Amino acid sequence: MSKAEKKAAKLAGVRKMDVDPRDAVRTPGPERTSPATMDASAETEYMIDVFGHIKAMFETATASAFPLLANSPVALVLSTKPGAHYQNNSAMSLYSKSKDFPADQFPADSPMDAAMRLCEHLPSSDVVEKAEAVKGSTIAVIVSTKYLTRQMNLLFQLGARPPKVKEEVVVVDYSSPNIAKQMHVGHLRSTIIGDCISNLFEFIGHKVHRINHVGDWGTQFGMLIAHLKDEYPDFETNSPPIADLQAFYQGSKKRFDADEEFKTRAWNEVVLLQNGDPVVTKAWQLICAASRKEFDVIYNRLNIVGLREMGESFYQSMMVDVIKHFEERGLVTIEDGRKLVFLEGKEVPITIEKSNGSYTYDTSDLACLKYRLDTLKADSVIYVVDAGQSLHFELVWGAARKAEIYDETKNRIEHVAFGLVLGEDKKKLKTRSGDTIKLSELLDEAVELSSKVVDDKQATLEDDAKLTAQEREDAINAIAYGAVKYADLKSNRTADYVFSFDRMLDFRGNTAVYLLYAYTRIMSIARKAGVSEADMAADTTPIVLEHPKEIKLALHLLRFPEIIEQFVAELNPHVVCGYMFQASQYFTEFYENCRCTEVVDRKVVSYNMSRIKLTRAVAVVLAKCFDILGMKYVQRM
Ligand code: ARG
Repeated sequence: MSKAEKKAAKLAGVRKMDVDPRDAVRTPGPERTSPATMDASAETEYMIDVFGHIKAMFETATASAFPLLANSPVALVLSTKPGAHYQNNSAMSLYSKSKDFPADQFPADSPMDAAMRLCEHLPSSDVVEKAEAVKGSTIAVIVSTKYLTRQMNLLFQLGARPPKVKEEVVVVDYSSPNIAKQMHVGHLRSTIIGDCISNLFEFIGHKVHRINHVGDWGTQFGMLIAHLKDEYPDFETNSPPIADLQAFYQGSKKRFDADEEFKTRAWNEVVLLQNGDPVVTKAWQLICAASRKEFDVIYNRLNIVGLREMGESFYQSMMVDVIKHFEERGLVTIEDGRKLVFLEGKEVPITIEKSNGSYTYDTSDLACLKYRLDTLKADSVIYVVDAGQSLHFELVWGAARKAEIYDETKNRIEHVAFGLVLGEDKKKLKTRSGDTIKLSELLDEAVELSSKVVDDKQATLEDDAKLTAQEREDAINAIAYGAVKYADLKSNRTADYVFSFDRMLDFRGNTAVYLLYAYTRIMSIARKAGVSEADMAADTTPIVLEHPKEIKLALHLLRFPEIIEQFVAELNPHVVCGYMFQASQYFTEFYENCRCTEVVDRKVVSYNMSRIKLTRAVAVVLAKCFDILGMKYVQRM
């Protein structure tokens, strides 16, 4: 395991829980899974977050054992001690508060005593078999095998279900390239991360608006339209064959910078466009359509579906009102003909109207936020945009709060920022020949390299084990696009990310290829034993958990809802990646220690149905994670 992978595994495993970020978004009150409200009839529809459940048990215990410290944080973590599953480390810090109280008022006289007291006050629950104060005054928690067994059987029968959360309307703003410009690697990151976050929200039952906030408005369209009129004078009747939009953009820019007469015409076109002139609008639409065609090629290849285009132009008519909204509240300062909004603690104001009467990126984002909250009735609005735009969002939201467009106690508005994509030289990503990367070429290269990966593997197989042409193609695509997506998703999104085909196509370590192969291996166990889907479904043998490696694997699989909650709270897909990687490692440990099938002369002569079902449960969880990450997977590779 590399250092980064260890870190990822650690993140998905033991976490510092002093501040549990999920508390911020967990539904308060009865909605939350707690010992008192855990509803057994719901366990078919939802999965219970074991971690959250135990934590809630300790919160209850803390409040009842130490009423004066009722709201002290519960430091629950996955246990590193053999024999224990979770451990609560809060007794020491609880006891340290004793100095704030008169001696006879504090109910414990040592950290160990505090730990024991917590155990005594722990409500009963069928999740926990035993909670015991051990050396170091931590509390070792053992999850009931009976409980794990029941949940594993449900997991096998019903698949991976989400944890129970309150339904919400969520807007995810992602991809968002700019018309007539190239979609670059930053937009690729936004597309991959945004798609994944949208999948996550849909999975937990939210209503999701996937919105492509394309840059399709602004003064640059003046020069593009003027150029179009010159280059394709009959554009109204003959759709212009703009083959290379980038060249078209550069051509118009060159003229705009060099030719005063052209510049004046360009400005004129902007005014006409903003006033809805039909001919100019038609020209604008043609340019947008040409761009859209190029974007769609990338979206199709990446299997991005349901992304709805609502670009800056969509808010054109709403911007007038938004400015009025600010003016009515006396929030506008006029300086040199510009309308500005100043914010406390910020040196730079935002410009909501330029001196020539045109609007800005800020104005459109203000109108857009208002629309998303008021019209789409969004509870949460998530912007998946590069970290370079942090200040822009801070200012826009600051202004929106000031103008009472947005109330942070009611809505979750978040900038899911991500770092740059760098080449292996840690500089801006370039092609081998040093040119700026075209996304389609980057994806071509991924496909080419993945074909080699698949074919090399095929060359080692007997003829009867080889893939059909269709299977080969599916495998190549799953690996190619999966590798690009997974490499992005598995890294901590806020950091810059180094794009390396060598690394993303490596079989060793936390990569898409590794996981995709792991999945096919797991799926092949039942197949090789001659157990079909139907056999498995009809068979009544339950999964039984006996071997410690079976229990370890089951406990990890049942962390699925916890991981989902963590992902919802942090919006960082790498927690899912770390979880999957860990699952495949625990699977390997289990498989090496627990015999699933007995093989004689390369033929399966008997099998253990409980374990075959357990392998299937692993596959079911991995498959759900692939779905959330937006990755395709295949049964054979
Ligand atoms: N088009 C912008 C860009 O390429 C990103 C837009 C992000 N979304 C938003 N609501 N501002 O930089």
